Amino acid sequence: MIKSIIKGTGKFVPPNLVTNKDLEKIMDTSDEWIQQRTGIKQRYWIPEEGVTGASDLGLEAAKQALDEAGWTPDDLDFIIFATLSPDIMFPGCGCFLAAKLGLNSTPTLDIRQQCTGFLYGFATADAYIKTGLAKKVLVVGGEVHSSGLDKSTRGRDVTVIFGDGAAAVCIEGVDTQESVGLLASALHTDGNFAESLMAELPASRLPQRNPPGVSLDDPRYFPVMDGPSIFKKAVRLLPKVTHEALEKAGIGLDQIDLVIPHQANKRINQAFGQFLKLPEDKIFHNIEKYGNTTAASIPLALHEAIEQGRIGKSGETVLFAALGAGLTWGACIYRFL
Ligand code: ACO
Repeated sequence: MIKSIIKGTGKFVPPNLVTNKDLEKIMDTSDEWIQQRTGIKQRYWIPEEGVTGASDLGLEAAKQALDEAGWTPDDLDFIIFATLSPDIMFPGCGCFLAAKLGLNSTPTLDIRQQCTGFLYGFATADAYIKTGLAKKVLVVGGEVHSSGLDKSTRGRDVTVIFGDGAAAVCIEGVDTQESVGLLASALHTDGNFAESLMAELPASRLPQRNPPGVSLDDPRYFPVMDGPSIFKKAVRLLPKVTHEALEKAGIGLDQIDLVIPHQANKRINQAFGQFLKLPEDKIFHNIEKYGNTTAASIPLALHEAIEQGRIGKSGETVLFAALGAGLTWGACIYRFL
C-alpha cells in the first residue's frame, strides 16, 4: 500500500531580527507583556527595503528540503503552497515558487487556510499520492506578515505575535505494508467565525476593492483579531480534534512521541498539553524565536524538532495540531519510516 513519507524538510527566515524591545520603540507595548501573554521573545521580519514575498522565503526553504530529499525540482509532480500572505492578490505563490525553481509546467496549488494551512497541505498531498495523481510532492508554508501589520499601538495585540518565515517538506509515496506515513488527518472549518480574525480590505466583494475615501491607514486594511475568543476556541477545539485524529489512526495518545502544535501562543499550547495530561517535554515550542509564522509554523517546528533529535527515528510518531483564522482547525498524525 502507498504511504506518504517525509523525505526532507527545510526552513528559512529573513535576516532582520526584531526583538520585543525593538517593538517597544514603535508602539506602546513591553517585552514583559509580550513574553508573559504569548511566550514570544523575538521574530524575523523582511527588511523594509527591497522586494521579498512569501514565495522568496519559500524558495530558500524548498531548496533545503529538496537537497535533504536528494531531489531536484524536476523530480516534483506537484507543489502545494500554503499562505495567507501571497506575494500579490493573484496568481498564487505556487506559480511564483515553481518558476523560481526553474519549472514551467509542474502543477501547483495554493491553500488559503491560515494557521491550519500546512495540515490541509499535508492531507492534500497525501490524497494526491494515495490516488496515484502524484508521487513526489513539495508542501511549503510561507508568510510575509510584516508588510501588512499595523505597527502603531492600535494594532499591538496582533502585530507583536506575527513573524515572517517559510518551511518546506518533501513527501513521497512509498509502497510498504508498515503502519507509517500520514496515519490520519482531521480537518475542520467554521466560517461563521471568519470575522474573529481577518484583514477586510482590499475586498473584491465591494464595487471597488480599495473603497474611495477610505485611507490606507484604516484598520480594515490590517489584520484584526478577537484574541480572547480565539484563545478559548483553541483550548477547547485542539484537544477535541486531537482525539478525533487519534481515533481515526486507531492509536492512543501514549503512542505519540511528540506533539507539534501550531505556534500561536505558548499559553495556548501549555493549556492544550495540560488538557491532554501530556508531560511538558512531549510538546514542542519554538514560538519564542519566531513568533507566529502561520502556515510556516508547523513545518518550521518539525524541521527544528528533527534537527534537535526530538523526533524522526523510524517508528516514532508525531501529532500536529492547529487552529487559526477561518476559523480552521485540525490535527494530523505522522509516523516516520
Ligand atoms: N502590549 C501591551 N498591552 C497589550 C498588547 C500589547 N502588545 N496587546 C493587548 N494589550 C492589552 C489590551 O489592550 C488589554 O488592555 P486592557 O485590559 O486595559 O483593556 C490587555 O492587554 C489584555 O488584552 P487581551 O486581548 O485580553 O489579552 P490576551 O491575554 O487575550 O492576549 C493575545 C492577547 C496574545 C492576542 C491572545 O488573546 C491570543 O494569543 N489569542 C489567540 C491568538 C491565536 O491563536 N490566533 C489564531 C492563530 S493566527 C492565524 O490564524 C493567522
